[in-house]
Amino acid sequence: MRYHRLGDLPAKRHVQFREGGTLLTEEVMGYEGFSGNESILYHLHSPCRVMEVGAFTPIRREEWVPPAHVHRLTNTRPVEPEGDPHDGRRLLMWNDDVEISICKPVREAEGFVRNGEGDEVIFVHEGSGVLDTVFGRLPFQAHDYVLIPRGTTHRFELDPGPQTWLAFATPGEIETPSRYRNRYGQLLEHAPYSQRDFHAPGELVTHRERGEFPLRVRARGGWQEYVLDYHPFDVVGWDGYVYPYTFSIDDFEPVAGRVHMPPPVHQTFQGPNFVICSFCPRELDWDPMAVPIPYHHSNLQSEELIYYVSGEFGSRKGVSVGSMTLHPSGLPHGPQPGLVEKSLGARRTEELAVMCDTFRPLRLSALAQELDDPSYALSWYEPAPLEATTAG
Ligand SMILES: [Fe+2]
Repeated sequence: MRYHRLGDLPAKRHVQFREGGTLLTEEVMGYEGFSGNESILYHLHSPCRVMEVGAFTPIRREEWVPPAHVHRLTNTRPVEPEGDPHDGRRLLMWNDDVEISICKPVREAEGFVRNGEGDEVIFVHEGSGVLDTVFGRLPFQAHDYVLIPRGTTHRFELDPGPQTWLAFATPGEIETPSRYRNRYGQLLEHAPYSQRDFHAPGELVTHRERGEFPLRVRARGGWQEYVLDYHPFDVVGWDGYVYPYTFSIDDFEPVAGRVHMPPPVHQTFQGPNFVICSFCPRELDWDPMAVPIPYHHSNLQSEELIYYVSGEFGSRKGVSVGSMTLHPSGLPHGPQPGLVEKSLGARRTEELAVMCDTFRPLRLSALAQELDDPSYALSWYEPAPLEATTAG
């Protein structure tokens, strides 16, 4: 991310900074010890100050170990809206690098939340609102990726109407691929987005209220509750490279070629052992002999999850908006029979989808079992006998 600042700051770091007569508390919030990106925040109160320590609730995951290793189709449409932006997350798949959940919150959370052990990316399929944070207010709308760095105390304000989110949480760091950036970090001309497409909080509101403010912190595989006696958005100013931001998938500039371009051209973000890619409406391959949908491929070391947002996905049969396909490692995959012929000559696709490729196997939840369509595994099978391919 680029450097950003909001509110009042002293001219130098680590010097006395007062509001009225009160000495403010400087907090350095950074990655990789003191070697990664960081921001510096100036608080009215010590961010260590807690009035009460509440319960710790471990996160429990209900795993489904399927009886067969096959390609899977999971329709998330039947998932009922419920809960708040945190307890409403319904886990679908996970490994040690990433958790993938569907979330259809119907109410705002009580109190404040902070993920103390990972970064989060929320793809907003439907809905809008404001992510209010210790760094300021960040509006979001449908088709935004909302990035929340670990350590960001926040709460979601939801606009009326349905909300459907695909949420990723990782113990690692979410970043843009280094091949899109120059040695100073600026996005390169050939990157599929520019710094102008990333939106930081635009307004910092310093809260001075006192009272009882519940805070939930995710740490050590669970949720720890606290009560503060001050509003945690007590920052008068901050600057640096760590802050929440939004990026709209509609601002992703798709890459097309004379013949088919591989999935890495759609890469949007990355974390440890996984990538997030955006498949966006675009012109298709223009060579007269081009096959404009993907060739069969064996991702020998990855699992491929695709969430279908809108439009028709040319290379998949039977998927609808809100469906997910999971093509696990160990099995080749490609267009179902007939789709290649059907695609020939096509010059444009309106597909919109979010893909997550993980380099380590994904485990499935009990919810994934509920939503599983077992017929997908056989969708490449045609009952007609195979034609002989050798003479005689
Ligand atoms: Fe694929």
